[in-house]
Order: sequence, then C-alpha cells, then structure tokens
Amino acid sequence: MIRRTIILGIAALLAVQAIGQSEAAMNQFIDNLMAKMTLREKIGQLNLNSIGRNSTGTFQNSDAEQKIKAGDLGGILNVCGAEAVREYQKLAVKQSRLGIPLLTGLDVVHGYKTILPIPLAQACSWDTAAICRGAEVAAEECTADGINWNYSPMVDVSAEIRWGRVAEGNGEDPFLSGIIAATLVKGYQGNEPGQYRLLSCVKHYAGYGASEAGRDYNMVDISRVMLYNRYLNPYKAAVKAGVGSVMSSFNLIEGESSTQNKWLLTDVLRDQWGFKGFLVTDYGTINENVRNGMGTQYETAVNAFNAGTDMDMCCDAFVKHLAEAVKRGDVKESDIDTACRRVLVAKYKLGLFRDPYKFCRPKDYKRVVYSKEHREVARQLAAESFVLLRNEGNLLPLSKNQKIALIGPLGDSKRNLIGCWSANDEPDSYISLYQAMQEAVKGHGSVTCAQGSNVSDNTEVNKAVGYRGRAISVGDNDQLKNEALRLAREADVIVCAMGEGSEMTGESASLANPQLGGPQRRLLEALLQLHKPLVLLNFAGRPTIMKWESEHVPAILQVWFGGSEAGAAICDVLFGDKVPTGKLVNTFPQQLGQVPMYYNHISTGRPVSETNKGFKRYSSNYIDVTNAPVYPFGYGLSYTTYHYSAPTLSAPEMSLDGKVTASVTVTNTGQRDGDEIVQLYIHDLAAHIARPVRELKGFRRIHLKAGESQTVQFELDRSLLEYFDREGNAQLEPGEVKIYIGPNSRDTQETSLMLR
Ligand code: BGC
Repeated sequence: MIRRTIILGIAALLAVQAIGQSEAAMNQFIDNLMAKMTLREKIGQLNLNSIGRNSTGTFQNSDAEQKIKAGDLGGILNVCGAEAVREYQKLAVKQSRLGIPLLTGLDVVHGYKTILPIPLAQACSWDTAAICRGAEVAAEECTADGINWNYSPMVDVSAEIRWGRVAEGNGEDPFLSGIIAATLVKGYQGNEPGQYRLLSCVKHYAGYGASEAGRDYNMVDISRVMLYNRYLNPYKAAVKAGVGSVMSSFNLIEGESSTQNKWLLTDVLRDQWGFKGFLVTDYGTINENVRNGMGTQYETAVNAFNAGTDMDMCCDAFVKHLAEAVKRGDVKESDIDTACRRVLVAKYKLGLFRDPYKFCRPKDYKRVVYSKEHREVARQLAAESFVLLRNEGNLLPLSKNQKIALIGPLGDSKRNLIGCWSANDEPDSYISLYQAMQEAVKGHGSVTCAQGSNVSDNTEVNKAVGYRGRAISVGDNDQLKNEALRLAREADVIVCAMGEGSEMTGESASLANPQLGGPQRRLLEALLQLHKPLVLLNFAGRPTIMKWESEHVPAILQVWFGGSEAGAAICDVLFGDKVPTGKLVNTFPQQLGQVPMYYNHISTGRPVSETNKGFKRYSSNYIDVTNAPVYPFGYGLSYTTYHYSAPTLSAPEMSLDGKVTASVTVTNTGQRDGDEIVQLYIHDLAAHIARPVRELKGFRRIHLKAGESQTVQFELDRSLLEYFDREGNAQLEPGEVKIYIGPNSRDTQETSLMLR
C-alpha cells in the first residue's frame, strides 16, 4: 500500500511537472491568479524600484518594503546577495496579499564576479561559442546569488567613439551584433522551452548609439530607413532568439521619447517582430520625459504605457497614475491586464511561483563563484578579444628570458583592468598585470614596474578614473617619468600599459578627445627615444585615435578591458603561449573630425577611395585628411599569416529566391597554428534605396595548423541579401551584387553575383 502511494505520488509529481511546463498550465495558473488581483495589484506588477547599495542612476527609490507589502512593486534592481534577496522575496511572498514573488534585476553586463572582457572586446573574438559560454558563466554565478533578471545584452550599434557606451555593445556592424545578441540571449536564458534560466533584457531600444556628438543621453535623429537597416537588426535578432524582456532607450527618436514612441514599441516590436515578452523603461525615463517638456508626470506615464511600455523603472509613475487614468478613460483596463500578464509570465517561466527562493543558493554560489573553470573561460575569452594592430619585425611575442620594464598607469592598477559595469568585482580575488607578468616570467626573466605618468593632464579625467574606487594615483609627471625612464634604461624591452581607466567608458563617460592622455603620450615619446624594443598595450573601452602611435610604436596590442583574468590573458598573448586572433568591430579613425566613421557607410555620388593620397576637389573628402581609417573594421594581425584564394561562386547568377555558395580557400602560411576569422561582405549595386559600400553578411572562425589550408563556404540567399524600406518591408531587386571575401573589410578580393 505504502509502495503504491509512493509510486502514485511520484507519477503525480511528474505529471504536475509536465503540465507545469506546458503553456496551457501556465495560462491557467496566471488566469487564476489574475482573477484574484485588484487593479492596484495588477499595476503594482508594473512597477520596478532600484534599492540596495549600488545605484545605477541619479537617485534611489525609498520605502520599497512598504511597497512590496502593499503589492505595489513587481520587481527590484541593484540588490545582490542571496541573503539580501531572500529577505525581499520573503516580504513579497509572506507579507503581500497574494504573495507574488519579485523580479530581481541587475546589470550583469560582462560577468558577475568572474568578470569577462567588456562586451566590445568579446565581440572582437567573433567567437560565438566562447561568448555563449561566457554568458552561461555569468548566469551560473548571478542566479545563485539572488539575481533572476539581467539587463543584458546591450546591442546599440554605434560608430560614435566619443560615446562611452560603445564599450557595452558589439561595435558598428548590425549583422555581427545581431548574431552576438542572439548568442547572449540563449547563453543567459538557456534553451529549455517555456523556461528561463535567467531572464535576459535586450537594450536600449532603439538608436541610443547615435547620440548626437557622442554626448550621453543626447538626442538622436535617424530616418526609418536607417533605423531598419542599420540599428534595429540586433534587437530583432534578440527577439527572434526569444528574449524575455526589452528595455527602451533614454533618447528621443523622431522628436519623441523612445519610451513613448508607439511606432517603435508596438508597431515594430510587437506587430512586425512578434515580441511576446514585456517592455521596461530605462532608469527614470518617465520623469525625464517631464524634463524633456513632454507634459506632466501623469501625461508621460499614460503616454509611455499607451505606446507599449509594460513596466516603469524607478519613477513609481504607473502606481501613482494608471488607476486614475483607467477611471478617466485615458488607459484601458484590458491593456493593464495584458501588461500584468506579461510580467507574470516571465515570473512563471523563471520558476518563481514554484520556488520564490530558487535564485538564493549560497552553497551553489560558493561552489561556482570564481571557480577554476569560470576563470579559465574568462581568461580564454580575454585572450581571444585582444587585437594585434602592429607588429614590426615580429617584435611580438616576447621572450620571457629577459629584463622587462612594465611602464604606464595601467601596469599595476588591477581594478582598471576589468572595465565599466563591474561594480560587483572582488579585487582581492584577482591580480594586476604586473603581478601576472611576475608570475609568467618566474624562473626565466624579470619584470620591474613604474606608473610613469598620470592618465591625463585634465583633472576631471583623472577624477573620473577614480569612480567606484578605481583611482590611479595622481603625482608629479616629471618625477613619475624619470622613475620610468630609469627602469626602462635598465631593461631589455619596454612594455607600456597605457590608455583609459575603466570608468572612462560606460554610461555617462563620453570623451571629447578619445586619445592617449597628454602625459602618457609624452612618456611614450621619451621611452621611444631609448631605441629599445617597445610594445604598447592599449587599454580602452572604445576605439582610440592613434594615428601617431600607429606610425611610431613598433608593436601595438589592443587589450580593451579584459575582465578579472586580464593580467594572465595578456601574458598568454604577449609571451606567445597563445596566438592573437581578435579582429576589430569598429573602425579606428585617423582623426576625431572623421567621426562617426564606419566601414559600412552609404555610397556617395562623388566617392573618393580610401587609398587616394591627395585632396580631390568637388568630391567627398576632406582637404586636410584622407578618407582612410588607421585600422579598418575586421582588422587584426596574428603571429602567423594567411593567404586567401580569389573567391568563387557556385553559379554567376541567382534567382531572387535561389541560393548560391561563395567559396574561398585560406592557407596558414606562417609558422604557428592559429584561428582566422574569414569575412564575407556584399555591395548591392541595384537597390532603389542606396546600400552601404560594404556590408558584412558572413564570417567563420577557423582553426588552421601551420601550412594547412581550408575551403570555407558561405551560402547566400535572399534572407542575407535583402534590405528594408521605410515601412520595414524587405526589398531585393534584380541586378549586380558584389561579393567580397577577405581577412578584414578592406583587404578583400571580389567577385560578382547577378540577381535575376
Ligand atoms: C542604464 C541601463 C541599465 C539601468 C539599470 C540605466 O542607467 O542606462 O543600461 O540597465 O540603468 O541599471
């Protein structure tokens, strides 16, 4: 009898689980719950407050406990730690009338405690498997420490290098960014249908990457054609990958706040793309719309809601005004039901109704956080993200058997290795570059270290470096330089660790001069006068203006901000244990005056080639600088070399609905095994809306042993070739499409495809 009861019990459990996962069961559960909810409680689910120790905006919310108990809060953000989150969940579950658990959000932008390279750097790996594993690592750590909702990926396409938030995105290309967006969403959320391992939130929808003059929070004005073709693809890719939530952006678009733009939030996102999740504002935007002169808080709340916003981040504006708006007939109650349901669906898919404390697992957290495996993932991804920009006379890799002088403000500043949006790092758990280099050369050579200079002559810049406890000491530049020169004179080789501090990029970190700070540049010039081998490690969260460096410094490795394992990863590449494979995802301009500069620009009727040396009157160029970048999109050297054959097509013609295969044979012609990123671009020459001169439409990361060859194939069809008109309708006309294949966007060979 007992046995039978147990078996029946297990069967019932399994059945409940099976039903529990089905959509019908979910809908029924939510119907039942919503039938018990008052209008106020439904609106409460649409309210999100920032509390806890780290604010990510200009203010924090208060009285969250009271709001939770009253059912006036659906989620919180910026509270971390299993115990702290458990206390808030307890309030919601035990002390609110219906016991609905909370969403607990955070910006886990590039790792939680084990910090991965900044997203811009990760993108330079072009390695979707490694990027996905990185997202899983972030999810494994944060979901054991209380977090169930992640404000990532950030997919704002941007060529505006003054804008600090370039660091958080995937560069200037919509196709690559779309692939990475989908990869990250799956890495966070997992692949179980109807379930989220961690709820992902793609942001900032849309166009934020085009902030005028690169000043953060500034207005944006983009035509719909440009939006559809250049900016929207990564969000769409995230939606297609099943992202559970979307965050609208701070910026205006067509003179309207994104948060109130019905065309963007409803017509495109929901009606054209079929987005089923919920949509949240960015931090405090409903109030900012009052400041934008768009009416009272009542009006901006109602307008945001009616445009398609489901959740209000930090303004408490929905809980203040929506009930009244329903009474006045300004908002439909059925729309509130829809929004509330979307939030409850997310909670259901996270499994919060089954176990509200599911994300509070201190034991698991202890086991996974900074685990050997997680550190290895971060180290490998960091090494793959570095881009070798110059290597005269094969100066790199360096031998460990020599005296090395490590010079520069980033050499021994470990908290500046990791990059913006890493407020949760635990500095005791990782080491500086200097420490990593000492470990790497132990038993072989030696390394000495000097700061050498301040980051900048500008006191505001030096102060900004120090944000969130990341200060680099500010001293007398001459004294610092003399000490550095003394060490450099005694060394065989000089490694310069220079560039930006971590907090010089990210939110609210625009720079009018994105180049090496004055004292660093003067120090670099003095060090070069010693005529010793010199390597520049350029730390940056954005493309740097570095024409002078590209002409005078023999070896340059772009190391971005590589996360908590950056020190060891830099040594892996510097000393040749790993071969550099990264390729740029942004164009590096010669001068700021060329910005925004991006490889996939639209054609002009008076084009001037990048290789043109002089100025051409009545043509599209500058008198004082050529149209060439310093380094083009897709560029990156290695310790080995590759030869590309001319590309071929399986057929010279294709019907509009047909398929064609483009092939290229790549040979590793150097001495080292390596990974090469093979890139395919197109130029549509028969479109009624002007198309970019090059557009990335395919890439493969391949491994080639020294001497080995591989033929890489790309299948081309309508879905890759088409573009969009101003209504978002896909277009493709008969005519010629140029196909380019090569190691970057510039050094390609071409063939031609005729569409019939
Ligand atoms: C940022 C978002 C972030 C949010 C919550 C805002 O200031 O723009 O990217 O997700 O804060 O922290």
